Amino acid sequence: MNYKVYNNDCVIGMQELQRETVDAIITDPPYNITRDNNFKSMGRAGIDFGEWDKEFNLVSWIPISIDKVKKGGNVIIFTDWKSTTPIIEELEKNNCEVKDMIRVEKSNPMPRNRDRRFITDYEIAIWAVKKGAKWTFNRQLETYERPLIKTKVTPKSEKIEKGHPTQKNIETMEWLIERLTNERDVVLDPFMGSGTTGVACNNLNRRFIGYELDRNYYSMAKSRLLIV
Ligand SMILES: C[S@@+](CC[C@H](N)C(=O)[O-])C[C@H]1O[C@@H](n2cnc3c(N)ncnc32)[C@H](O)[C@@H]1O
Repeated sequence: MNYKVYNNDCVIGMQELQRETVDAIITDPPYNITRDNNFKSMGRAGIDFGEWDKEFNLVSWIPISIDKVKKGGNVIIFTDWKSTTPIIEELEKNNCEVKDMIRVEKSNPMPRNRDRRFITDYEIAIWAVKKGAKWTFNRQLETYERPLIKTKVTPKSEKIEKGHPTQKNIETMEWLIERLTNERDVVLDPFMGSGTTGVACNNLNRRFIGYELDRNYYSMAKSRLLIV
């Protein structure tokens, strides 16, 4: 069995996992960025992703997650640039060394009020390693690798109906998984949403453990992972 996915609160669910049995965490937790705005008319869903993105505790899930990672395991956490400091501090408190900030650049970003703001054409992910052993780093180029993923917004073809409101694209997750894990490794995503990390794991022969609180997103993930 290559996947284990659960419709559960990850903090409760992860208590069942053995300590230091997971090779990597690759996750995209809520960012707490849901806000009122006036841009629904620009084809943008507005910045209201749903209740799950309100009053989310950005760090409470980190200690139990890191407890499940092997020494030397890679940890990737997507977040909003304004939230990097508390997350980095919590990782450091939990025996991790923060290595880098990986940028995801989109060639076709969503429209925004161009007279008042720069367009948001990027996302970021914190890369850390659990101390105590060598980490996996599978360089894909002859030369130095930049911590930069050049991609597009998630295409409709990757979505079930309207998809998840903050669905990552598969290309981004594959880029990370190829470089930071090995074949047959176990990848944990405590906030899997529609299961994109799992789909990328499937494509690249990695094992996957995912949690998702919302029943609809969990069903989406199961469909994408072809679990009946
Ligand atoms: C940013 S989204 C992840 C989207 C995902 N990367 C994708 O491609 O579909 C974060 C998800 O975490 C879920 N979530 C929030 N709190 C949770 C918790 N305590 N345990 C499990 N899932 C949770 C939300 O329902 C939401 O779907």
